Amino acid sequence: MRRAAASRAALAVMMLTLVVLRETAPPVLAQAKADGAPEPATGRTAKKPVYASRFMVVAANPHAVRAGLEILRGGGSAADAVIAVQLVLNLVEPQSSGIGGGAFALYWHARSRKLVTYDGRETAPQAATDDLFRDGTGKLLPYRTAVRTGRAVGVPGTVALLWRLHKTHGRLPWVRLFQPAIRLAEQGFKVSPRLHGLLRDAFFLRRRAATRAYFFTAAGQPLPVGFLRNNPAFAATLRLIAKQGPNGFYRGGVARDIAAAVRAAQPWPGVLTEADIARYAVVARRPVCAPYRRWRVCGMGPPSSGGLAVAQILGQLARFDLGKLRRQAASYHFLIEASRRAFADRNRYVADPKFAPVPVRRMLDPAYLRRRARSIDPARAGGRATPGRFPVKKGALPGRGRSLEIPATSHISIVDGDGNGISMTTTIEAGFGSGIMVRGFLLNNELTDFSFRAARAGGPVANRVEGGKRPRSSMAPTMVFDQKGRLVMVTGSPGGSRIIGYVAGSIIAVLDWKLNAQAATDLPRVLSRNGPAEVEKGAPTALIEALRALGHKVRLARMTSGLHIIRRLPDGRLEGGADPRREGIALGD
Ligand code: GLY
Repeated sequence: MRRAAASRAALAVMMLTLVVLRETAPPVLAQAKADGAPEPATGRTAKKPVYASRFMVVAANPHAVRAGLEILRGGGSAADAVIAVQLVLNLVEPQSSGIGGGAFALYWHARSRKLVTYDGRETAPQAATDDLFRDGTGKLLPYRTAVRTGRAVGVPGTVALLWRLHKTHGRLPWVRLFQPAIRLAEQGFKVSPRLHGLLRDAFFLRRRAATRAYFFTAAGQPLPVGFLRNNPAFAATLRLIAKQGPNGFYRGGVARDIAAAVRAAQPWPGVLTEADIARYAVVARRPVCAPYRRWRVCGMGPPSSGGLAVAQILGQLARFDLGKLRRQAASYHFLIEASRRAFADRNRYVADPKFAPVPVRRMLDPAYLRRRARSIDPARAGGRATPGRFPVKKGALPGRGRSLEIPATSHISIVDGDGNGISMTTTIEAGFGSGIMVRGFLLNNELTDFSFRAARAGGPVANRVEGGKRPRSSMAPTMVFDQKGRLVMVTGSPGGSRIIGYVAGSIIAVLDWKLNAQAATDLPRVLSRNGPAEVEKGAPTALIEALRALGHKVRLARMTSGLHIIRRLPDGRLEGGADPRREGIALGD
């Protein structure tokens, strides 16, 4: 039966129009206005792969990358470097991540050959209930309203995560890692074209005094490109955390101000308390690892759906020879179909494992993934996939979740001189988070990653709001290892639930299509979240037509991925690529 299916696949592939995609990047995407997403595209910059022999940093802004490099040159580890990078990103890319948000990190400790994953996800206040996003009459708040409210703010996890990384893997003094960000916050940084472009559409930031004063001129215009923006309030916050460690954030004046700002945010104040903030704890979790051809791909487990979904997609694709198919429509067809099946499972089963047991082992069972892959018709789009059936313990009945995820996040990839690596995806959720600014930084709106609806016909929704729970994420910081267990690739991206497709695509581009790290980030994005086939605007028309000929409903969209890839080459050198859709760079020595 397997042979019959394989020959059907071969026949279908032969029948397909052979659409070989060009190695070159698609045409420059036009300067984009908000495409229904608060962190839209702001242009495209051609980039070349970067090579280094010792260490490398790839992140979303040159200031941040240089800060990481400064730390590595000073003898710091990958953990030290990521702290400096994150703090500078908070300042220069405030729309995407920062100490007011949360993050997931994979850390590879080369000498002990140990991979650890850390969950620094935001957490719902204890008093949050499943009517968090309902108004006084019981009606659900529209998503666009909910994202800019106090209700949406979870306890931030990033500072605790950075502290944990430093305690476990750091080498340089904690205070030293704050210097680049404090320096830049005091001296000022030039507003970048991307930040300026995003401010033009961020009307909600004009409504609150703190963000209006910080991001706009006295005349109410977005700060122009090149404006020297300093942030003494943020510098003071950083000095406090540098001196007191996490207590400088989770206890005392900063915590008090966070709770007060959330509870005062009108018209929909939140329920966050100082006690919620003081209670925050990072969780070290078992990585989600699965074989992919001759490699092993590892990612973040629940409450992120990222690692599981990427592993499920790749596990199904192992049945198809994407290396031989190259970048023909057939490869993308298989990718879209495998993604549909992975998203069906993700949407139904993945949530905070402390509240809803996630059937991780069953979802990654190779026999199950083979069965899922066999259900893919090589010659025809299959439509919406249904989730696999797994027994779930009483009291944790899954139901279809409904949560909108809008892209605004950042990814940091680092390999240090000892071969240690970090893959960290970090977020304040939708662009500029909740828009609530405290002591120079923005608070997240991560709780909108929960399902707004608590129940559906199938029962209670796994990802419903509950006090002390972490919302499901799609963030997929990823590492790939070779047969000898050596780290060969670090990847990850922002992009809401499209992250999963971006990351899976980057792995296929590097491992199957043998593209360099830069070419892998340049490729047009193609994915599915169990709806239509989503194809990046600017992708070759021949590809779009070939997918339509296979029966796919194709939706063209602007896709602001931010893939940051490091590859270890067979000769030992590091190769870095930064997504042309954002302002990131790769640098190394
Ligand atoms: N807020 C984006 C994510 O966690 O997937």
